[in-house]
Amino acid sequence: MGRCVKFLFSTFAITIAILAIGIGYLKVDDVFREQFFARFLNMLSNPNDVAMMDLRCNQLLKHSNVKGHILEIGSGTGINLPCLHNNTNIESYTGIEPNVHTHPYFYKLVEQYDDISYNIRLSNDSAADMKEIPSDSIDTVIMTFVLCSIPDPIPDKVLREVHRILKPGGKFLFFEHTLAHPEKNPLIYQFQRTIEPVWEIIGNGCRFKPITNYFDAMKSLYSKVEYKSIVLPLPMFFVKDGVRGQLIK
Ligand SMILES: C[S@@+](CC[C@H](N)C(=O)[O-])C[C@H]1O[C@@H](n2cnc3c(N)ncnc32)[C@H](O)[C@@H]1O
Repeated sequence: MGRCVKFLFSTFAITIAILAIGIGYLKVDDVFREQFFARFLNMLSNPNDVAMMDLRCNQLLKHSNVKGHILEIGSGTGINLPCLHNNTNIESYTGIEPNVHTHPYFYKLVEQYDDISYNIRLSNDSAADMKEIPSDSIDTVIMTFVLCSIPDPIPDKVLREVHRILKPGGKFLFFEHTLAHPEKNPLIYQFQRTIEPVWEIIGNGCRFKPITNYFDAMKSLYSKVEYKSIVLPLPMFFVKDGVRGQLIK
């Protein structure tokens, strides 16, 4: 019995030590963290996840909603492509993705579709400064699970930059996960706050934030700002609070 407890304790201690070293390494080595995150994101992005793909394809990125020259912020490994590949309303697609380690996964997914009728391009610029994109040139901007990864105060710049590149009347469609409400959901809120230091390292900068504040701040710039709270169909119980909506220029 004593030996068994000792063995279990040593195994536990070694596992914790390995995890701590791994997380420490991720924190200090930017390239390693971005490579790790690209792989991790690819693992999490499952085109066969029915509930999540329903949110992406049927609720946010319906063909009738996504048209013309489109631009995706934080295109990642291309998990929104299953919603876009056969959309004949699209004239061109530009993905803005600074983590270049995600690009090979994205292009691999593109190769799986033989019905893409428009030009696809990826840029590794930040969405806060899309210098290659002319003003008033984009019909639809899309963004899913991105603002959590962009440190303050840059999200404000991103939303202003999106306004610059959109054509008048153009749409900015998004969903994001948010910080749980501290009074309505105190346990989840506390849990998010507790794990945030580690979550931020594993998620390449992702933090739990009151995301709707960024959209509220755009009410004087965009002609329409609308969003609603949603429950995200994600397996992790602490990433269920979400928001889906649109800004119209
Ligand atoms: C959590 S991932 C989401 C990927 C994908 N959109 C999805 O729905 O799964 C966030 C992505 O935003 C990207 N990102 C971070 N900062 C960015 C910025 N300043 N401009 C554009 N994309 C950014 C990250 O590299 C990452 O690929």
